[in-house]
Amino acid sequence: MAQITKKIELAKAFLDAEELVAIPTETVYGLAAKGVSTKALKKIFEAKERPINNPLILHFKDIKSIAPFVSELTEEIHTLAEHFWPGPLTLLLPKSSQVPEIVTAGLERVAVRIPNHSKTLELLALLDYPLAAPSANPSGYISPTRPKHVERLLGNKIPLILDGGPCDSGIESTILGWEGNTPVIYRQGGIPMEDIEKVLGRKPRIHQKSEVLHTPGMSLSHYAPNTKTIVTKDILEHLQHYHDRDQKVGLISFQKHPMAQKSIAKEIVLSKDGDLEEMARKIYDAMHQLDSLGLDVLIIETAPEKGIGNAINDRLYRSASINKDN
Ligand code: TXA
Ligand code: MG
Repeated sequence: MAQITKKIELAKAFLDAEELVAIPTETVYGLAAKGVSTKALKKIFEAKERPINNPLILHFKDIKSIAPFVSELTEEIHTLAEHFWPGPLTLLLPKSSQVPEIVTAGLERVAVRIPNHSKTLELLALLDYPLAAPSANPSGYISPTRPKHVERLLGNKIPLILDGGPCDSGIESTILGWEGNTPVIYRQGGIPMEDIEKVLGRKPRIHQKSEVLHTPGMSLSHYAPNTKTIVTKDILEHLQHYHDRDQKVGLISFQKHPMAQKSIAKEIVLSKDGDLEEMARKIYDAMHQLDSLGLDVLIIETAPEKGIGNAINDRLYRSASINKDN
């Protein structure tokens, strides 16, 4: 216990000194900096090689501490907060003048959320400022869901990784905002659309990939392994193709496919029982594992199209170098 507390105090010391710290959240690991210091925030963009016009999410300990950073907190926002915070929901809200330009990349709205991880909440409780944190991966690569992913990707660029074990949810937060009175989901994520609809009493619109892109983070190619990646409903057809060409294939599937065995160098089945939450928790780790093996191609099966399965598929399609289904 004393050891843990010490680590959190060390994290606070680095953050106060405008240094970076990788923090655990329930979704993915974040690369955190003092959210009110432009000097500290610049270090995030440098470490990730992230385009400066891609805005950051501010993480808070409670709704009271969000108030000064936004221009209003409507009743609907309070209702969402009661249901989903702390948890994997990010809200895009009109910002106040307290938010540094670099956080929103000059946009009118700021992204805010209260993460659900005991260590990060403990850390936030010690701070009198929010933490800006994108996912702790080099820009465009797979998000990290374990401390060792962060270590491998950015270990030499950050002084401290606060170890909070594997992430519970495993897919980034859902991003929700309003256009006029209409709720819009800009990124599907840890909170399924159906759950938001129940609480709001109306269906949010889902921002379409073909619409004008608001930010580079929503770009079509993202979350991508270095290995050539195929995302498909029909893995058998692709397996046969690469088997015939003597290629080393890695397979990530959502169920066991006995017929597939002969042509695979390494297979990871995400959930034997078809449990969507388990799939979400494991998908990025599986991609990290297979991407480090030097295979010729990764074939990834799409998830069932319901609940968090939609968010998983969104990420998979963005990660694909070739994708015949979409
Ligand atoms: O689960 C999560 O949301 C994780 C954890 C660490 O909290 N964070 C995360 O951050 O996924 P990041 O930066 O990797 O993805 C945030 C996305 C980006 O695509 C960014 O462009 C978008 O949110 N975003 C942030 N602020 C925005 C704003 N003011 N307006 C529009 N989009 C915004
Ligand atoms: Mg990210």
